[in-house]
Amino acid sequence: MDFPGLVGPRFDPGSVWLVGAGPGDPGLLTLHAAYALGQADVVVHDALVSEAILSLAPQARLELAGKRAGGIRTQQLGINNQLIRLARQGQRVVRLKGGDPLVFGRGGEEALALAAAGIPFRIVPGISAGIGATAACSIPLTHRNLARSVAFATGHDSSGDLAAVDWHALSRGSEVLVFYMAQRRIGQIAARLIEAGRAPDEPVALISNATRPDQDVRIATLATAAEAVRAVPPGAATLILVGSVIALRPLLAAWQQTEPMTVEASNAKASGATPPARIHA
Ligand SMILES: C[S@@+](CC[C@H](N)C(=O)[O-])C[C@H]1O[C@@H](n2cnc3c(N)ncnc32)[C@H](O)[C@@H]1O
Repeated sequence: MDFPGLVGPRFDPGSVWLVGAGPGDPGLLTLHAAYALGQADVVVHDALVSEAILSLAPQARLELAGKRAGGIRTQQLGINNQLIRLARQGQRVVRLKGGDPLVFGRGGEEALALAAAGIPFRIVPGISAGIGATAACSIPLTHRNLARSVAFATGHDSSGDLAAVDWHALSRGSEVLVFYMAQRRIGQIAARLIEAGRAPDEPVALISNATRPDQDVRIATLATAAEAVRAVPPGAATLILVGSVIALRPLLAAWQQTEPMTVEASNAKASGATPPARIHA
């Protein structure tokens, strides 16, 4: 893929690029990410990354490595070893992750493993769901005189239990709270926040499949969030936002244009490449 006037850095055989794919809309990829996809020999990708984005690497072999609750699970150690093995074979490896690779994406663990194995790597940041989802559904993450601080938190820890967060500190420390991977625990989270002093009628937004054609937004309150989450499309990637900034959405949503960028279906054919192999690692 060429970008007039821009020259990408060398993507050396035997190296790994840890690339953020953004929240879903192919138009929210960085130029580095699109360039890397066009150069890669192998793309090791998460389940959340769309076919449209993967089609930007028609020359590459695709290996699915992502882990999704209720879906395919691959141990992190196995993914680290997969990246190291492919790099040692002299491949140009893109490790493609939803959002930003270092925000609740375990990219730090992969980078540590690559460094320990002596594999050169690059980190290409992506738009994290916390930034992309809120913008896509007309909610300013901060707003003058309304919200001056934001915290990003996970809804559960590695065992699946409610995350061991200091709920009082979180509640008091930030006006806007953004929870990743929190659908299953939203009832407990809301109860902890109310206990810690947040108002039961504080707005909550449940944002699913943000920036994708099937984006779905539900507005509730801390008191009703556990009930509202039942209507979220099953299996949808969902971000949960708490804060008064949600009240701005009705003023903006009717006028905001949000259609995602589309990728031509003929992309793979246009390159003259045969369709890429798909490997479920
Ligand atoms: C394993 S985390 C990965 C986060 C990713 N590294 C990032 O920076 O966005 C997966 C969680 O991110 C959130 N997420 C990712 N993409 C999303 C999207 N398009 N819409 C809503 N939430 C999304 C959901 O909370 C999902 O459970």
